[in-house]
Amino acid sequence: MIGKIAIGILIAVASVAQAQDQVAPKAAEASVLPLSAKTRAALIAEMLGVKAGVAELSGSIAMGEWEAAAQQAERIRDSYIMKQKLSSEELEELEHALPADFIEKDSAFHRHADGLAHAARAHDYELEVFYFSRMMEGCGTCHARYAPNVFKGFKPTDRTDTH
Ligand code: HEC
Repeated sequence: MIGKIAIGILIAVASVAQAQDQVAPKAAEASVLPLSAKTRAALIAEMLGVKAGVAELSGSIAMGEWEAAAQQAERIRDSYIMKQKLSSEELEELEHALPADFIEKDSAFHRHADGLAHAARAHDYELEVFYFSRMMEGCGTCHARYAPNVFKGFKPTDRTDTH
């Protein structure tokens, strides 16, 4: 009896997985987040800054340049899309358009940048590296879920987070 139930669950899981495979090509065409051209451009601008920022940051960490690392981490921390030059209507649009889970991932990312800045000021290399790895984890986890159309290496069903 238990065996039958287990098989039933397996079949159900398998068909859900199959259904997800079938909708995947659609997700690849449209942007995952319902943003206007302007707010999407603001997000992309933030991302390009973050990409350059973490490249610099990795060098400063490796070379023991504590103050430079702290400042670079603070710049990333402060690079919220919400703080860019957007009108109040556009900010409101963002607040409604972005899923709560996205906002949570974004703020976790900025929290980890803040942690890294503090670790750098404390000359704590191990803690810096810990926060750097959490930041990297944040990039891929968010991209796999919200930008698989941009980053084709992540399939829409990929989960890089384990929780
Ligand atoms: C909370 C979510 C989130 C986090 C965290 C995040 N990203 Fe992104 N990123 C996105 C989304 C969504 C897009 C796609 C935007 C679009 O085109 O619709 C994107 C796009 C990008 C792009 C492409 C910009 C372009 O030219 O189109 C780069 C580069 C990028 N991210 C780098 C990074 C790096 C590096 C990190 C980590 C250090 C990171 N992102 C962290 C959500 C995130």
